[in-house]
Amino acid sequence: MNLSTIVETQNVIKNYDNGRVQALRGVDVTIHQGCFLAFAGPSGSGKTTLLNLIGALDVPDEGTVIVGGENLKSLSEKERTALRRVKIGFIFQQFNLVPVLTACENVELPLEILPGYTKSSRRDAALNILKQVGLTGKEHRLPNKLSGGEQQRVAVARALVKKPVIVLADEPTANLDSETGKAIVDLMKQMRDEYNTSFILSTHDPRVMERTEAIFRLVDGRIEE
Ligand SMILES: Nc1ncnc2c1ncn2[C@@H]1O[C@H](COP(=O)(O)OP(=O)(O)OP(=O)(O)O)[C@@H](O)[C@H]1O
Ligand SMILES: [Mg+2]
Repeated sequence: MNLSTIVETQNVIKNYDNGRVQALRGVDVTIHQGCFLAFAGPSGSGKTTLLNLIGALDVPDEGTVIVGGENLKSLSEKERTALRRVKIGFIFQQFNLVPVLTACENVELPLEILPGYTKSSRRDAALNILKQVGLTGKEHRLPNKLSGGEQQRVAVARALVKKPVIVLADEPTANLDSETGKAIVDLMKQMRDEYNTSFILSTHDPRVMERTEAIFRLVDGRIEE
């Protein structure tokens, strides 16, 4: 594993339903720091499953997942949680903002479980990243007072506020119209350029694929060459 490798999977196998569903059938990928890439493939091909394994949300049945130099298998559940909280940001198809919190409060949330922040440094970090994603003036709105594209900008800010090593975005444009979707992908890429965060997306959307720098195509739980 060379220095710039940020994620490596070796022969990863993941089954569900006691082996009745073979979601991943031996996946090998090597991903470099600062990447902007996507897992593409039809519904059910294993994209979310693979993102969940890389995000340490789940463990494979067989094979190895190495994230930021750590073999996830050798970590306890507690250590995996810590890795996730510190190093990984998540962006979802449904935005997943907390409806009763303002944009700013949503962005502050991931910092509340990290050491080293005060109330005011959390607020400053959140306002700063909200400015970078173009939401100045809307920081104190509730999510339902924001458009879908604006809500996803909040989600991008929430993923980035802790300066993670990796951002995982599972179909981040699926609930956006195509212009807004393109703008969100461009924003993520801009954030990659700024912070050298590695972005790993999943998508069906050809307009997203044409904006990423590499694509791994998944078919029936395998990477297609
Ligand atoms: N928790 C689960 N229990 C049982 N089967 C599951 C579970 N999660 C996923 N699967 C199955 O595993 C396979 C891969 O699912 P996965 O969600 O990874 O696909 P995907 O590529 O993300 O699809 P989509 O594009 O629809 O989001 C599918 O056959 C799916 O039905
Ligand atoms: Mg999925």
